[in-house]
Amino acid sequence: MDTAAIRSDFPILHQTVNGKPLAYLDSAATAQKPRQVLDALNQYYLHDNANVHRAVHALGERATLAYEGARAKTARFIGAPHARQIVFTRNTTEAVNLVAYSWTDRLTPDDEILITPMEHHSNMVPWQQTALRQGCRLRYMPLRPDGNIDMQKLPEYLSPRTKLVALTHVSNVLGVTNPVAEITALAHQVGARVLIDGAQGVPHFKVDVTAIDCDFYVFSGHKMCAPTGIGVLYGKLEALEELTPFLYGGEMIATVSLEASTWKELPWRLEAGTPNISGAIGLGAAVDYLESIGMDAIKAHGDALTAYALEVLSAMPGVTIYGPLTGRTGLVTFNLADIHPHDVSTVLDQEGVAIRAGHHCCQPLMRWLDVPATVRASFYLYNTAAEVDMLAQALERTREFFGAR
Ligand SMILES: Cc1ncc(COP(=O)(O)O)c(C=O)c1O
Repeated sequence: MDTAAIRSDFPILHQTVNGKPLAYLDSAATAQKPRQVLDALNQYYLHDNANVHRAVHALGERATLAYEGARAKTARFIGAPHARQIVFTRNTTEAVNLVAYSWTDRLTPDDEILITPMEHHSNMVPWQQTALRQGCRLRYMPLRPDGNIDMQKLPEYLSPRTKLVALTHVSNVLGVTNPVAEITALAHQVGARVLIDGAQGVPHFKVDVTAIDCDFYVFSGHKMCAPTGIGVLYGKLEALEELTPFLYGGEMIATVSLEASTWKELPWRLEAGTPNISGAIGLGAAVDYLESIGMDAIKAHGDALTAYALEVLSAMPGVTIYGPLTGRTGLVTFNLADIHPHDVSTVLDQEGVAIRAGHHCCQPLMRWLDVPATVRASFYLYNTAAEVDMLAQALERTREFFGAR
């Protein structure tokens, strides 16, 4: 992979911060956008802007073609058999909530939802609320000490009471990639539906929802070089058919009378109101961009950088790494001696290094790790080994500054 050529596609990376060259190591929070995606947004707003699905004029047709074209590209990108299986949302969080509101009316107090303690709050709080609303039980899969799901104990947590299993494809703290196909097969044996949170998966490797066989798969555009404000709910057609619309109004109806209304077919019945047209077009451009580089090359680059960062950081005095030391996708989570992660982040920022400090929207996982917060460095296709070295040097200076050992 030609990282120098890739970096030239990202104007934002070529700046100094506090007088130092920027090392942007926070792509797990949001990825930077290449010129190709920005050009697609400009093309739409400068030449094609119109509302979709309704207008019978040239601009309306172009906008509709571009919007629906983005849906088809997104479907192909994740191995969905049909574009109708892609519902555009604002982000992962909204996609999870759409299922949590629209599918879970059927749950009764005898039923169980099974998730993991490593979920992002976005894939935990909606299920807590669902359990409260429906009076059903929320259970958590067991984790091994290294942070991987304990697959030997998992069958004890699955029974005909289990109606929904929801878990992340890749943990945004531990970096582990969960065996989602294996867990989906086990969940299907007891008749449960399965939702996978792919927010940290789709940006980094080729995802094939058909091979995983999950019922729902959700992700955000902004973590894969697309604009903010566009996300995806993929579903098997029979699973999406079970969703009762959650928002009602324009765009989602087939007929309306004073007494009653009927709905459009999928996926439009789940996309009420004027959608994020430019966001979807930007997502389509991001898919084109990632595919032009190749998801296998992106994965190999991310794996190599993560392995290098693990090697460098684990050799540094005072660094504690959380999660397994191998098989991680795109990020390293750690603490430096007893220096608060926010202080580490502040000193690193002075050195031009942008990382994330805090609970990473995973407070229960922080409790499981027995820390209030951590530092997280995350990598994407435009990052380099030199930036990992910048991180290590900046950490060394942080340690000296705080007199830590
Ligand atoms: C694993 C995981 N799930 C869900 C989310 C939520 O994504 P969004 O804020 O785009 O809805 C994130 C974002 O950090 C994440 O890392």
